[in-house]
Amino acid sequence: MKRKDDQDGKNKMKIIAICQIKGGTSKSTAVLNLAAAFAEHGQKVLVVDADEQRTITTTILPVLEAGKNLDSLILDPKVKLTSIAKGTDWNRVDIISGSHDLSFIASELVEYKEKHFCLQKKLKSTEYDFCIIDTSSSLNIVTINAMCAAHGIFIPLTSNYLSFGGLAKTLDAYEYVCKNLNHELQLFGAGFLIHDKMSRFSKEIEQNVNEQYPGMLFETKIGKNIKIEEAQVQKQSILTYAPGDIGAVQYRALAEELKVRMGS
Ligand SMILES: Nc1ncnc2c1ncn2[C@@H]1O[C@H](COP(=O)(O)OP(=O)(O)OP(=O)(O)O)[C@@H](O)[C@H]1O
Ligand SMILES: [Mg+2]
Repeated sequence: MKRKDDQDGKNKMKIIAICQIKGGTSKSTAVLNLAAAFAEHGQKVLVVDADEQRTITTTILPVLEAGKNLDSLILDPKVKLTSIAKGTDWNRVDIISGSHDLSFIASELVEYKEKHFCLQKKLKSTEYDFCIIDTSSSLNIVTINAMCAAHGIFIPLTSNYLSFGGLAKTLDAYEYVCKNLNHELQLFGAGFLIHDKMSRFSKEIEQNVNEQYPGMLFETKIGKNIKIEEAQVQKQSILTYAPGDIGAVQYRALAEELKVRMGS
């Protein structure tokens, strides 16, 4: 079913926010590789860097130019998506680059009437098929804006027990946003993105997630794989860096599973 604000035909883009309060759980890596997997299928993708670490921006933009970025899109009612989105070296992938200073956005937004919905109002497009938002591991107002703009969220997990604690906290945030702000926000699910099958916690975490949240876990698991990290250092996705590698195969499968869960 189409979301109310998509029914006027001004938005055909499916918006996914990658959220996990525990840091280092492969949020940014997932944004990059899912974008590449969608693009490989001919779909046009917009990535939004909503983390002040700017991992996505520094990986994907050939030259870091000064100029307008997520700050202006969120804060300036006159600024449009089309004037902010930049092309990248990656085929069919554009970016809204990140800001260094999210605390600045937060202090400015306090004065705004609909401060949680500034991004939602701007993220409408008939040009892109998918928009993937990278969020920070802190639940700041920009992360809430991302959740209010998204159709649904995906939560990454690792074979580290702390990411399981992060899942519960991220779900609390999801429920808060659903109840109070974006009533149509979906939970696309959670998936292992750094899966170490040798770790004694892997099976335990998987069992716990399946018991406590049946149906939430994606079948596809991305194995711990040095090539995924190497690709990022080379400013590439695993799909272009090592197209036949197991990591590329797994990211393609994850993207397909996500599409099914999104109903795309
Ligand atoms: N499947 C994988 N195998 C091995 N290393 C991985 C894998 N996925 C991600 N990494 C590496 O793990 C590190 C953390 O990943 P990433 O920066 O994407 O996490 P994050 O959740 O965005 O972190 P932060 O909370 O700081 O934003 C990076 O060095 C990344 O290259
Ligand atoms: Mg990150």
